[in-house]
Amino acid sequence: PLVSMKDMLEKGRKNGYAVGQFNLNNLEYIQAILQAAEEEKSPVILGVSEGAARYMGGFKVVVTMVEALMESYGTTVPVAIHLDHGSSFEKCAEAIHAGFTSVMIDASHDPLEENIALTSKVVELAHIHGVSVEAELGTVGGQEDDVVAEGVIYADPKECLELVERTGIDCLAPALGSVHGPYKGEPNLGFKEMKEIHDTIVLPLVLHGGTGIPTKDIQKAVSLGTAKINVNTENQIAQAKRVREVLAEKPDLYDPRKYLGPGTEAIKETVIGKMREFGSSQQA
Ligand code: G3H
Ligand code: ZN
Repeated sequence: PLVSMKDMLEKGRKNGYAVGQFNLNNLEYIQAILQAAEEEKSPVILGVSEGAARYMGGFKVVVTMVEALMESYGTTVPVAIHLDHGSSFEKCAEAIHAGFTSVMIDASHDPLEENIALTSKVVELAHIHGVSVEAELGTVGGQEDDVVAEGVIYADPKECLELVERTGIDCLAPALGSVHGPYKGEPNLGFKEMKEIHDTIVLPLVLHGGTGIPTKDIQKAVSLGTAKINVNTENQIAQAKRVREVLAEKPDLYDPRKYLGPGTEAIKETVIGKMREFGSSQQA
């Protein structure tokens, strides 16, 4: 069923695993991710950036595709459709009214007071609809669609506590050195700050930029309250690589089913690997 992230993340935090947010780019991602979740008996979060929603034809198109596929597959595991890096109150409201079950309001580039004010406003609307809310502090490095970071700032644990207490959010993404897209060298995650946040805040934490983080860092983050890990680039790389291989092997191929199909399989394999690594397999 389509649900908010609240229960799945609280269970993850309590039982020591993280639920993956896998971003959608087109129909094939929905197919691959829903199939992986069902086979692994894992809860799952379908992440939709504003750019990806635009590409697919709008929020309503995304919700309709997800609902129709879940019905066609007979999906039994909990699934959340989540607005990734929502840029404004209006965008969050639009997603909620289109049927999203969860939203992120990313006011991390604003000063703390403005972040708190905007986030509170989104929480008020979202909670009326039973929709969960994620907020962010600090900056995630790299670039994802419209979100470009200039210089990485680590989230301040004191500000995190203030944001949580004054907004009523359901989960918090403290940016602590993670990067959207591939890492240049080993990631340098702020585990000292993460521990401080974990010691003072009883909410599930979110790790953005899940592509390319070593398993030992994933495990450490999960042990410090991280219950949601976002992955996009790794699926895109796996899909593109497989499609390139197929097209290189068979230069006369033109039926998209014959080259996109294997790409979809590659996404599914990648998602299954992540679910096992994050510990969410067999938890639904
Ligand atoms: O919000 C989405 C993510 O943080 C994805 O990051 O593309 O590096 O896996 P990634
Ligand atoms: Zn992100």
